[in-house]
Amino acid sequence: MKKLIAGNWKMNGSMENALNLAKDVVAGIQENTQLLENNDFLVCPPALHLAPVRTELTSAVSLGGQDCSPFDKGAYTGDVSAAMLNDMKCDYVILGHSERRQYYCESNMLIKQKAEMALEQGLKAIICVGETEGEREEGREQEVVGQQLLESLPEGASADTIVIAYEPVWAIGTGKVATTDDIAAMHAYIRAQLKSNAKDGDKVRILYGGSVKPTNAAEIFAVEDVNGALIGGASLQAHDFLGIAQAG
Ligand code: 13P
Repeated sequence: MKKLIAGNWKMNGSMENALNLAKDVVAGIQENTQLLENNDFLVCPPALHLAPVRTELTSAVSLGGQDCSPFDKGAYTGDVSAAMLNDMKCDYVILGHSERRQYYCESNMLIKQKAEMALEQGLKAIICVGETEGEREEGREQEVVGQQLLESLPEGASADTIVIAYEPVWAIGTGKVATTDDIAAMHAYIRAQLKSNAKDGDKVRILYGGSVKPTNAAEIFAVEDVNGALIGGASLQAHDFLGIAQAG
């Protein structure tokens, strides 16, 4: 399967930055179209920048939100609904990122509700899972990730509707990367869970995330069951973002 190279821009940059970054990503792919042979591309700008960024993208780059509401519409101040993301021509939405779990106390149950809203609107839900450093030190990483998965998978989870992103919390934005053995063990575990709990679970993409850079992407992508990357910091420079795809 093609790798999904997904940029999570998080809460960074001005409108001008976002437009320039989108333009640079599109131009970089146009200059090197063979990148499209093995990769699909996705960018997830801040919600306010979705509509203008859309105007800069071509069909080579999909658009995604970074979160959506668990509710469909109405009096939920500050929320962005899955229907609104769909209306902005998003194809994907990131859900349950560890930053949302940590700073907004998002539970697996809430993430499942959001994922079901996303699926109702025809969006693919990128469900993020990952253990903290303490949980790994206690040897509980599979137990934690297994529970996150089972409790947050929406009804209708299938290779067409969901993507899983394994992001060890201690590897996000820290420059620390899990070893290829650790990545292989966790991706194999997630694959086994998906085979039992999702339709076509052997084909659901499993992304790795956490300090992925052009310099380490090749060895990460060589690991079995790594079907792409969810990229934070390095997705803010088109050169680095595309360099990661190139490495694969
Ligand atoms: P970094 O690539 O900056 O470590 O962030 C990873 C991430 O959280 C992507 O969702």
